[in-house]
Parts: sequence; structure tokens; C-alpha cells
Amino acid sequence: MDDAIRERLTATGRRMLDCFNQGQAELADEIVSLDASVYVDPARFAAEQHHIFRALPLMLAASCELAEAGDYKTLEVAGLPVLLTRSGDGSAHAFLNSCRHRAGPVACDKGNAARFTCPYHGWTYNNQGDLVGIASHHQFGAAEKDDLKLVEFPIYESAGLIWVVLDPESKIDISGFLAGVDKMLDGFDLGAWSLYDQCALSGANWKLAFDAHLDFYHLPVLHKETFGPRISNMAQYFFHGPHQRLGLMSENPVEQNDLRHLTDVPEAEWPIDSLLFGEWIVFPNVSLNCFTAGEKVMVISQIFPGDTAATSTTVQTYLVARPPSQETKPELDEFVAFIKKIVGEEDLPMSMQQQTSMSSGLVKTVHFGRNELGLQRYHQWIEQLVSGKSPVFSADS
Ligand code: FES
Repeated sequence: MDDAIRERLTATGRRMLDCFNQGQAELADEIVSLDASVYVDPARFAAEQHHIFRALPLMLAASCELAEAGDYKTLEVAGLPVLLTRSGDGSAHAFLNSCRHRAGPVACDKGNAARFTCPYHGWTYNNQGDLVGIASHHQFGAAEKDDLKLVEFPIYESAGLIWVVLDPESKIDISGFLAGVDKMLDGFDLGAWSLYDQCALSGANWKLAFDAHLDFYHLPVLHKETFGPRISNMAQYFFHGPHQRLGLMSENPVEQNDLRHLTDVPEAEWPIDSLLFGEWIVFPNVSLNCFTAGEKVMVISQIFPGDTAATSTTVQTYLVARPPSQETKPELDEFVAFIKKIVGEEDLPMSMQQQTSMSSGLVKTVHFGRNELGLQRYHQWIEQLVSGKSPVFSADS
């Protein structure tokens, strides 16, 4: 890690310690209200698909999901079928999972393959997207294979994570968009971790589902039976462009490090694990939380819009720094079940009840308090983007 990145992480840790010492996190200037239609309006939903999910870099996979040459996975994002591959030279690729003959899917699920044969008429592609075989080509006629490659999306792999822009023509600077967050996340060395578990959970509007990830206000209330009532409801927010980090203003029962142990330790000796404390929010729809539960485990939550404004899917991915042993596996499995319960049985059912109320049309506004600064900023970014303005992404915004 270079000195500038370490200093950036250290400055965040220093500020977090100040907050602990003062017993107070930074508050917003005022309460902000938001028109509740942003969670239910189909036109607004379409604008978000266009200006956000089809325009911005999206973190679509951890590198270890495509650990070996030939590994691939398919997924659907914002109505687009996507195929992610790793080719023989080690590079990752992202394609529209759509045959150039008449749009059949060339791959399904996940696995390892050097070639993909479309199940409709049998055209074949390699994992770099080249059309390498046309079934019955003499009868089909002369087709220019070079013009019939899979549609390819811009891709960026950094810090053991893979970002894709679902616009083949996009010229967006993905590294610039990330505002250095990937350089800081690189401290986890996720490229060396492995996939342990993955699941998909249904929820309400994608922003309602994601709001809970930027909100510690609800922790001791909604999760009083799981996290317990003594956990803090205050977050200290740190901003990096549209991305955020959240530090909890109390001991976290499952986080890997409590920063307050560093009070009397020289900054130069602060361990990297401690400098990476808290929850990382990668705009617009991903959170990363590192915990210790038998093993170091990274919980990655990706919230994808569903078919309508009222639905979403939360994909939870669990990475481990090393495979668990017989001794550590029970604790790790118990933790995975714990997180699935918190999100699947507490957060997402709440989001669906909120959605039902908002869909009635009788809820006109929702409110974000001074203690919910991160949510205020998050929705300001969304508003700016759907209005068609081109925000400048920089580390200091
Ligand atoms: Fe793929 Fe015809 S649609 S071969």
C-alpha cells in the first residue's frame, strides 16, 4: 500500500477516534425530506435504470468468483443478461449474454468453459467473446465472424473486485468514479480470498433495501433480538465521492477490530485491519463488511433492482480469507446464518412493509434525520444523477 493511501486511511481512523473521544458523530445541518414517490414511481424507476444502472460502473463480482482461467458466471442486471468470464490470459471480460444470431443466451448459471455454444442453433463463442463456430455454416451462408462478436462491456478489475459498465459505448473513467475507494479496499487483499457462500434474497424497491445498509439508526430497535439493544444507533460517515464508509459509535459485536484499542498506539503502527474498520458503501448498490467469526469473513451485499420499482434482489456473497478448519467452521456457519437472518428476516421484510405503505399513495414524504447524514448524501447523489446532470466524481466531494 502506498503512503498516500495509508495516510488517507489513517486520517479516517484519526477522525473516528476523535468521534469516540467526543462521544458524538458528525450531524447533518438539518432534517431532509424526500418525496416518497421515488420508491414507487415507474417513470422514476426507469430513469434510475437509465442514468444509474446502465450508465455507472457496477461492482458485479468478486475476482475469486472467477478465480481460474475459464471460470464464468451469468447474472441479470437492470434487465440485461450479463456474462462474466476469465480468459486464458487471466483477464476478466463482461458481455451481453446474447447470441449474435438471434439473441439466445449463450451461457447459463456459472462454471468453467473455454467455449459457449448457444442452445438455440448452436453458434459457438470463446470466452473472449469471439464467434468461433457457425452451425451448418455452408448452408447458413457467408457471415463475417469478426462483426458478430458478443457485445462487450467496459470492465475494471481492482482490489479483488470487478466493475462493469452496462453500456458498450461508455467512456466513463471507472477508476476516477471510484475516487480511490478501490485503492483503499485493496488493503483487504480480497484477490487472495475465496468464495464461501452466496445467496439471493427478495426485497422491496432497491433503494429501500439499500437504505438499511446506510442506516445504523435502526440497529438497536429492528435488530434488538439479534444485535441486541445495546449496540449504538449512531454512525460516523466518511465520504469518498459518491462512496461512503460508516463507523459505528460503539463496540460492534462482530466487527474485526474496535478502533479504540489504538488510542495509545503510534499511528505508524496501526495495523491495516484496524485502518479498514467499518462498513464500505460502493455506490450505487454495494456494501462490504469485514467480520471475524472463526475466520475473517467479508460480507458483500449487492442490491439489484427487480422487474418493477417495488422489487429487488439482495445478493449476499461471503468471502473468507482462508478456508475454515474443522474447528472454525461451526462458528463461521453460525455467523453466515446470523447475517442471512438479520437481512432476510428483519431488514427485507421491513422494506416490503414500507413499500406497501408507500404504494398506497398516502405516504407523501419520508425523512432523513440529522443523524442520517449518509442517507441524505446518498439520495442527493441519486437525485443529481436521475436529473441527467453529470456529476464530477472526485475523492473530496
Ligand atoms: Fe444462437 Fe441461433 S440464437 S444460434
